[in-house]
Amino acid sequence: MDHFNYKDGVLCAEDVPLAQIAEAVGTPVYVYSTATLTRHFQQFQKALDWTDHLVCFAVKSNSNIAVLKVLGDLGAGMDVVSGGEYARAKAAGVPGERIVFSGVGKTEDEMRLALEGGIRQFNVESEPELLLLSEVATSLGVTAPIALRVNPDVDAHTHEKIATGKSDNKFGIPIAKSRAVYALAASLPGIEVVGVDMHIGSQLTELEPFRQAYAKMAELVTALREDGHDIRRLDMGGGLGIPYRRDNNAPPLPVEYGKVVREAVGHLGCEIEIEPGRNISGNAGILLSSVIYLKEGEGRDFLILDAAMNDLMRPAMYGAHHDIVPVIEPELAAEVAPFDVVGPVCESGDTFEKGMQLNRFAAGDLVAFRSAGAYGAVMASEYNTRPLVPEVLVSGDQFAVIRARPSIEEIIARDAIPGWMTAKS
Ligand code: LLP
Repeated sequence: MDHFNYKDGVLCAEDVPLAQIAEAVGTPVYVYSTATLTRHFQQFQKALDWTDHLVCFAVKSNSNIAVLKVLGDLGAGMDVVSGGEYARAKAAGVPGERIVFSGVGKTEDEMRLALEGGIRQFNVESEPELLLLSEVATSLGVTAPIALRVNPDVDAHTHEKIATGKSDNKFGIPIAKSRAVYALAASLPGIEVVGVDMHIGSQLTELEPFRQAYAKMAELVTALREDGHDIRRLDMGGGLGIPYRRDNNAPPLPVEYGKVVREAVGHLGCEIEIEPGRNISGNAGILLSSVIYLKEGEGRDFLILDAAMNDLMRPAMYGAHHDIVPVIEPELAAEVAPFDVVGPVCESGDTFEKGMQLNRFAAGDLVAFRSAGAYGAVMASEYNTRPLVPEVLVSGDQFAVIRARPSIEEIIARDAIPGWMTAKS
């Protein structure tokens, strides 16, 4: 459930008509709902209320500091994958002890930043990373709390570009090798082993892959404890999918996911961390766009919008579907027809969907892409020198611009005509 509904015939974000936001900010623009973010976060809190836990929002899914602050103020932790995301979490007021640092390629600078600013744990993905982290921590006179991200080699049944738990993915340490790497970790002066981490993929629509992975995690914890490691925290990763279509095939709910976690690892007495991104932010956001033209083609008609692949990359990149709905509620009997929905970017890949059954829109009409709050704005670019799409946050009957649209002058001012420097010989 989200808080984007028709009221008096106009699609609203909570109590704010989207047409008002379009008028104030222009289009395209992302609009997020505080109430939906809150609701989804609370669902995970409830799903894990049987144990000590921390819900660490995956910042990569939506990293605007206003969104992070909504969640941080509710008590959320953050899962970050770069120094930049770490800085965003801190800027949103989230304390270091609620931030976990994931990712396969952490640099020395990023490690130092997090160790100096405070960190709950690093999810370490390789031996070289472990060695470097120990060195950096030692040089700062501290120890780095770590979990090793273990790759359980399970098939997550999701799009190949977002599956991460198979042995041929770049992620994690193969489970068969993990006891040896834990032994190495325990021997290093700058490292303190605190837990085990897994993340098997994103947009998972079934619980079975989680079940399989977490069963392997439970076995591993028993073995690691026998080896003398004090495993007290389990990071179960993120990945629970969301409904992108309003039909009956909705993925399992957080509460059902929480039961799977409990059944698999509840007996181990560990604190549980999870890293949901999409499930919290996905349906808490829409992308609001205007129709520029309706173009009749040969055998097909095109709906040309002012949003493009650079603003919402998921359809071009993963063939992802986002429902597109009119902002002005259509009559029940209104005619629908197939349209290829496209943006203005100069390549054919800039197609949101082919043959989509839509109302007969006219130039100037507003439409909303649903389920665009996760991996939407964060993946946007300025391709074709289209200004980075702005973001608005709604709370009740109020709205605020939380990232302004840059002007073309600002964009151009970031470049420079060379003032040459000669390389040292
Ligand atoms: N934890 C780790 C270590 C991750 O790599 C990810 C996502 C998450 C948590 C959060 O997963 P979520 O709960 O959001 O599924 N751009 C793609 C999704 C990439 C996901 C990458 N990792 C998309 O638009 O579908």
